[in-house]
Amino acid sequence: MIGIEIVELTPTNLTDVPEHCKCCIYWEYPEAFDQGKRSKDDLLSFKRDWLNRARASFGCCGRIAYVDGIAAAYVQYAVPELFPRIAEYLTGPPSSDAVFISCLFVPQDRYRGRGLGRQLLESILVDLRNRKFGAVETFGRRGTADNPSGPIEFYLKNGFSIVQDDSDFPLLRLDLHGKVPNKHIHRTDDKVVSGETDNHHC
Ligand SMILES: CC(C)(COP(=O)(O)OP(=O)(O)OC[C@H]1O[C@@H](n2cnc3c(N)ncnc32)[C@H](O)[C@@H]1OP(=O)(O)O)[C@@H](O)C(=O)NCCC(=O)NCCS
Repeated sequence: MIGIEIVELTPTNLTDVPEHCKCCIYWEYPEAFDQGKRSKDDLLSFKRDWLNRARASFGCCGRIAYVDGIAAAYVQYAVPELFPRIAEYLTGPPSSDAVFISCLFVPQDRYRGRGLGRQLLESILVDLRNRKFGAVETFGRRGTADNPSGPIEFYLKNGFSIVQDDSDFPLLRLDLHGKVPNKHIHRTDDKVVSGETDNHHC
C-alpha cells in the first residue's frame, strides 16, 4: 500500500474515524452503551467527552491510519482506568504497569491483511516506549477476529504473550523495554521506517 499516513487522534479529526469506531462507546461508557437506542450525534458526543478526558489525563490515546487520504484503520489505547468495561472481563484486570489497547480495527476487507494493522500497532509501541510506559496489554479473542482489538493470532505474531488464558478472551501482554521481538520493525531515530509514506505525530 502506498500513501499511508498515521496521525494522532484529536478532537478535530475525530469525525474522520471510521463510523463503527467513532460511535462506539463500549469500553468508555458501558451503561450508556448497554442501554442502546442513541443517536449517532449522541454517541459521538460521548466519544468526544471521553477523548477530551483521556487526552487531559493520559495524553495521546488514539491514532488514525489514512490510506490515500481515506481513514482505513483506527487504534485506541490508554490506562485501564479510562475503560470501565474492563471490569467485566474474567481475564482482567490488566497489569498496573500496562497501557490497555481497547480497539484496533481495520473496518474494510480491502485494507486487511496488507500490514496496516501491524503498522498501526508498531506506531503506538514507539509512542509508548518514548513515553516510558512499561508494557501494553489487550484482551485478544480466541477462535474469531470479531473483537474490538482483534484475534489473539495478530498479537502473538507481533511479539505479545498470553499472560492470563481463557477460552474466549485471553489477556495478552508485550513488555516495551525488553528485546524488540518483531522482525518487521526497523527504527531510525525512534521512527518506524517501513519503506512507505508514514507520518507519526504523537
Ligand atoms: C485484526 C486486524 C486488526 C489485523 O490488521 P491487518 O492489517 O488485517 O493485519 P496485518 O496485515 O498487519 O497482519 C499482521 C499479522 O497478523 C496476522 N493476522 C491478521 N489478521 C489475522 C486474523 N484475523 N487471524 C489470524 N492472523 C491474523 C497476519 O497473518 C500477519 O501475520 P504474518 O506476520 O505471518 O504475516 C484487522 O484484520 C481487522 O480489524 N479485522 C477485523 C476484526 C474484527 O472483526 N473486529 C471487530 C471490531 S468490533
